[in-house]
Amino acid sequence: MSFPQRRLRRLRRTDALRRLVAETRLSPDDLVAPLFVREGIDEPRPIVSLPGQVQHTRESLRKEVAALRDLGVPAVILFGIPLVKDANGSGASDPQGIVQLALRDLRDEVGDDMVLMADLCIDEYTDHGHCGVVTATGEVDNDATLEIYAEAAVAQADAGADVVAPSGMMDGQVMAIRDALDDESFEQVSILAYAAKYASGLYGPFREAVDVTIAGSGHRKGYQQDYRNGREAMEEIRADIAEGADMVMVKPAVTYLDLIARARAELDIPIAAYHVSGEYSMIKAAGERGWIDADEVALEQITAVKRAGADLILTYFARELAEQLG
Ligand code: PBG
Repeated sequence: MSFPQRRLRRLRRTDALRRLVAETRLSPDDLVAPLFVREGIDEPRPIVSLPGQVQHTRESLRKEVAALRDLGVPAVILFGIPLVKDANGSGASDPQGIVQLALRDLRDEVGDDMVLMADLCIDEYTDHGHCGVVTATGEVDNDATLEIYAEAAVAQADAGADVVAPSGMMDGQVMAIRDALDDESFEQVSILAYAAKYASGLYGPFREAVDVTIAGSGHRKGYQQDYRNGREAMEEIRADIAEGADMVMVKPAVTYLDLIARARAELDIPIAAYHVSGEYSMIKAAGERGWIDADEVALEQITAVKRAGADLILTYFARELAEQLG
């Protein structure tokens, strides 16, 4: 009879031993909560496909953000749903636009105790649902869109954003935004670039959350990345860093852990990962059916994203995890 030479199970015997040797420790400090705020409503509205998430009123948003602060979550990222959508998404850069109003409320509420991030894109504000302006032939016009992003960045910075997060995947967006911010003396405002953002089927629930239907093609494959490509993610990331990104993001998260790991191996700036709406909803839906333990799977997935190399994780589980990790 021969015995195993290495006994790797010894260190797994008790919870205390497992805690002692854990390589990855998830903390509320790692989390960013994505939040939705809708113009012109009196009560928060549940988002059916994102159980537990709502479209906030300005008032309910204040309360949610204060609660997140009390739980130790250091940051939120805001998405707005305007009353009126138009071809150029003008609500995104209107000083009275919903996200700008919310940023002012939140700065007043939490001071510098939280990092306020604003998603910088126009799809929530356009009547056609694309992330950029659309030409007569139905193409998304890259360079015309950059001018709009620059204006939106200045509006968000002026309203108090610490971080603007361009998510539209236009070429040159980080440089256009950095230039505009610096011209208006917002040198201190950082850019979190959605650098490697894939055209993913996992954004479905988000589109319900922000009332977006994509006109024409019905997809964003003309500007977001193709999931068959991995090396290209590093090209996107390098380009964004060269243009002035302070932090870069990989999105979605769990299907792209290879790219988070690759980015971590090559980069020394903070890397974010976005555990997106579909990733959240799949866990919630299977949990509701009793097929999986949703709390356990949420912790497992978000920990895995950190283990792969993400420094900050945008997740709809932020509040629940902060409560759990307390
Ligand atoms: C674009 C944007 C999207 C998401 C974040 N920013 C939607 C898209 O690209 O279609 C998706 C986030 C999620 O699914 O949780 N403003």
